[in-house]
Amino acid sequence: MEQRMFGKPLINPVDLQRRIRKLGHQISQDYVGKDLVLVGLLKGAFAFYADLARAISIPLAVDFLVVTSGGSSTEGKKRVKMISDLTVDIAGRDVLLVEDIVDSGLTVKSLMNRLQARKPASLKICAMLDKPSRRKVDVKLDYVGFMIPNKYVIGFGLDYKNNYRNLPYLAVLDQLQNE
Ligand code: IMP
Ligand code: MG
Repeated sequence: MEQRMFGKPLINPVDLQRRIRKLGHQISQDYVGKDLVLVGLLKGAFAFYADLARAISIPLAVDFLVVTSGGSSTEGKKRVKMISDLTVDIAGRDVLLVEDIVDSGLTVKSLMNRLQARKPASLKICAMLDKPSRRKVDVKLDYVGFMIPNKYVIGFGLDYKNNYRNLPYLAVLDQLQNE
């Protein structure tokens, strides 16, 4: 069955997987001998997370945070709310936060502060996408899949009003889908 194309293609599945394999390889080297806990931010990071985890060749623990940042609108104020917390104690462990996209940086900043308070041995960020042009707070991204321009992106976990998360590629939301 043919899948309808949504949006303007930005990054295809082949390039995505190639980049994820590279990130996985780098993370595997950087975390040798560490006690890695891979923390995925749901819902957006689910697709990237699943592929990244399988591209990492060293032992790791999987865990997730469910967060919302004030609705799924393209604009607007953010109040990062934790809907569901981690299931493990991260004290003394090496935590790598896996996020779909860093835009203003507010989501990641707020979560980093909260996780840091639990005294992990280390706390780093891996983001599939970095949209640096809209940054409001300073955050250091340790691993980035792709830098992208200031466009609204859907697919591979990313939504517009909770749609399009299952697209196997990244696309720029075009006018047609804009209401
Ligand atoms: P930040 O707090 O502004 O960095 O926003 C990060 C969150 O906003 C991401 O985890 C996404 O859920 C959402 N977001 C930001 N930009 C996009 C986009 O282009 N497409 C879909 N969701 C986005
Ligand atoms: Mg997100």
